[in-house]
Amino acid sequence: MNRILAIDDKADNLVVLRAMMRMLLPECVLLQALSGEEGLRIAKEQRPDTILLDIFMPGMDGYETTMRLKADPETASIPVILLTAAENTAANRTAGLKVGADAFLSKPIEEEELVAQVRAMLRVKESETALKTKMDVLEDLVEQRTKELKESANRLALTLDQTISVLANTVETKDPYTAGHQVRCASLALALGNELRLDPQQLRGIHMAARIHDIGKIKIPSEILSKPGKITPLEFSLIKEHPGVGEAIVAPIVFPWPVGRMIAQHHERIDGTGYPKGLFGDDILMEAKVIAVADVVEAISSYRPYRPALGIDAALQEIENGIGTKYDPDAVRACTALFRENRFEFDE
Ligand SMILES: [Fe+2]
Repeated sequence: MNRILAIDDKADNLVVLRAMMRMLLPECVLLQALSGEEGLRIAKEQRPDTILLDIFMPGMDGYETTMRLKADPETASIPVILLTAAENTAANRTAGLKVGADAFLSKPIEEEELVAQVRAMLRVKESETALKTKMDVLEDLVEQRTKELKESANRLALTLDQTISVLANTVETKDPYTAGHQVRCASLALALGNELRLDPQQLRGIHMAARIHDIGKIKIPSEILSKPGKITPLEFSLIKEHPGVGEAIVAPIVFPWPVGRMIAQHHERIDGTGYPKGLFGDDILMEAKVIAVADVVEAISSYRPYRPALGIDAALQEIENGIGTKYDPDAVRACTALFRENRFEFDE
């Protein structure tokens, strides 16, 4: 059953309208209100399918009632038919259109016009409702798909994270003396990146690359990695291969960050004295410069097979000695600030 709300201050008019509707539009139920205020309340509560609204009423007139109906999102989509006085039709319709009325009916009401206008408005309402239902279904679908995509992205991120851990563990099993080095280096590199206000994407890349920066050591014989005392030039030439080997190992993985290049450049120094390529300054990624500082500081402050742990002061001394020559000045300043202001410490 369609519900029509008639708003008219004259009860007699409503009685006539009710009789007409019963006869001409038996598929409709008539709700009625004797003022604009009452009409607004009923419209909000009952959500009729169409409203028949008299213009001239004491208090809130038909124009204002229409304006308020159209301004309220809950009632805005209900078609409003304004009942216009025949002697002033053009002016009434113009004013009615301005406030948002959808159709007009001249008084006294003609039977055929009433039926035609009401049915036309019911069709409008019906197609709007159908459209709204379709939109709701679409919105639900988009929401559902977005949720699924997010979950799938989270799962992928977790898988990548686990893969990186597995890779990191692989080299640390072979080289137990650097076990934990990569993870500690990664947490310092991340803190440095934050201190340098690098963007979140770069930070994620730095953390990822730092966690596996020594993966290329997998190719170096264990005897060299865990050798106490000095290493020979030949052994050092093998060690110098590990950044390139690491880059080659991760090459098949398509990271959203230049992880391979960060690994390849973590032993480069800005004055060209690093290895394997002897790159200078701007040819080295900022991310690699950050990892380089974190790498050196972690390595010097920790135990190594060929020497005892030298502590954080010695580590900071080293990077300060190399500020602007070996190490990026901003990264060095960020690092010394973090430690001296007790804003960072390595996990055991
Ligand atoms: Fe390394």
